[in-house]
Amino acid sequence: MTQQHQIPSQIVAALSMTHTPGLGDRMGDAPKEQAETMQAAFAEGRELLAKAKPDVIIAFVNDHFDMYSLENMPTFSVCVADTHYGPPEAAEKWLQMKRRSFKGHADYSLDILKQSIADGFDMARSGSAEFVHNVLIPVKYLMPDCDIPVVPVFVNCFAPPLPSFRRCYELGELIGKVIAKRPEKVALIASGGISHWPPFVKEDEPNPDDLARRMLRVQQRGAIGRVEDPGVRVLIHEKERELAASDREMINIQWDKDLLDGFARGDKEYFTSMTYDEIERLGGNGGHEMCLWVALMAALGGAPSRTLVYEPVKAWMGGVGVISYDQAINGKSA
Ligand SMILES: [Fe+2]
Repeated sequence: MTQQHQIPSQIVAALSMTHTPGLGDRMGDAPKEQAETMQAAFAEGRELLAKAKPDVIIAFVNDHFDMYSLENMPTFSVCVADTHYGPPEAAEKWLQMKRRSFKGHADYSLDILKQSIADGFDMARSGSAEFVHNVLIPVKYLMPDCDIPVVPVFVNCFAPPLPSFRRCYELGELIGKVIAKRPEKVALIASGGISHWPPFVKEDEPNPDDLARRMLRVQQRGAIGRVEDPGVRVLIHEKERELAASDREMINIQWDKDLLDGFARGDKEYFTSMTYDEIERLGGNGGHEMCLWVALMAALGGAPSRTLVYEPVKAWMGGVGVISYDQAINGKSA
């Protein structure tokens, strides 16, 4: 079946990938073959981006209570600023990255905000973003010396109620519309997923232990909560290591493969009909992050992707994948 996709000519590269914290300081915890396979895919992604030479990077990402909290949790937001920062000092060690500034593009972000409001899409406006693994794992592996302005678009993927995949598809379409109106060459990056069950406390569920109560406090208070309880991040990382070493099943390989196949088909209907309960059950509380990949796909008019790698990595507690749209962008498979 031949299908035409409306890919704005300004889009020169597009990649979606996992941002598991395991890719911070736990590369060595994965079996050697899996780590090497991942590194080869990252090298390919780096090359695609280097060749594309984008003027701007639009990053579809989610926050993990570093910027937002339950006291202020926008469903969708765009960061209107010429400078962003990251990682926070407390994350430098496990990300193995030093805090630095990143260029932003306030004018581009503002256009996204204006188009959103004009189209009845109630986007929130934020200032400088605080990048953690959401943006910095892609930076670390795909653009280690990144000096290209980043336009961060955030979607709430963790604190229910979450927007549907259908609504995230509409978000991507809207951003495609903005891209088509502006002159800059754009690379799209989405991060998150695939199936995983990271430590997260639901506010309406009983909290069984002290760590869960402390985590909930951070979720409620965000960055202030981390300052109030600086030890909690280390405890969460220890908890993740403990979970990774346990017998608990924390990857749904079939779901991961089904989703990657869906992206390879450019199957809008498959993604936009997914429900919250289905994603929560099959992909875990971290599976909702795949809405970011869905938004990216929509900005490309639902174009089909190419899978660079998929590995279920137990040590990183998740299905890990990287996909690219280079063939669709270059007119080879669209
Ligand atoms: Fe995440």
